[in-house]
Amino acid sequence: MTTTLNLNGQPVAINAEPDTPLLWVLRGELQMNGTKFGCGMALCGACTVHLNGEPVRACITPLSAVGNAQVTTIEGLQGPEATALRTAWTAVDAAQCGYCQSGQLMSACALLKKTPQPTDADIDAAMSGNACRCGTYPRIRAAIHQAARGPQG
Ligand code: FES
Ligand code: FES
Repeated sequence: MTTTLNLNGQPVAINAEPDTPLLWVLRGELQMNGTKFGCGMALCGACTVHLNGEPVRACITPLSAVGNAQVTTIEGLQGPEATALRTAWTAVDAAQCGYCQSGQLMSACALLKKTPQPTDADIDAAMSGNACRCGTYPRIRAAIHQAARGPQG
């Protein structure tokens, strides 16, 4: 079935059934591999994308639930929060193997948009659904604080 996905600011024609998980469409049909497949069960956060700015797990989000919503993936993540986070991620050297990191950045960006100066508790709550097998949590938290402080921080 052909339908249109609003992806990273552009309409994209796709051919998939309504019950197809969004993650399958992104990676399998569109070869947008920045969004990762981890558990497939909403447990790890590797597949986190934004739906109208809210972080969701693409592995359990069927196309029928997406409709006309704006889908943003790591490839299309823009804005001052995203820029600050990318800079801080690099400065802090947050990534280890990198597998979880696009999902981590999607969750972190959604957090900063709602809570520009998060506390440790805010960060832990917002990031609790993003697992990192390399254990980079302290560096991710430091990067989020650094991004919140801004370029002079
Ligand atoms: S792959 Fe979606 S939460 Fe793990
Ligand atoms: S950096 Fe390796 S899984 Fe997070």
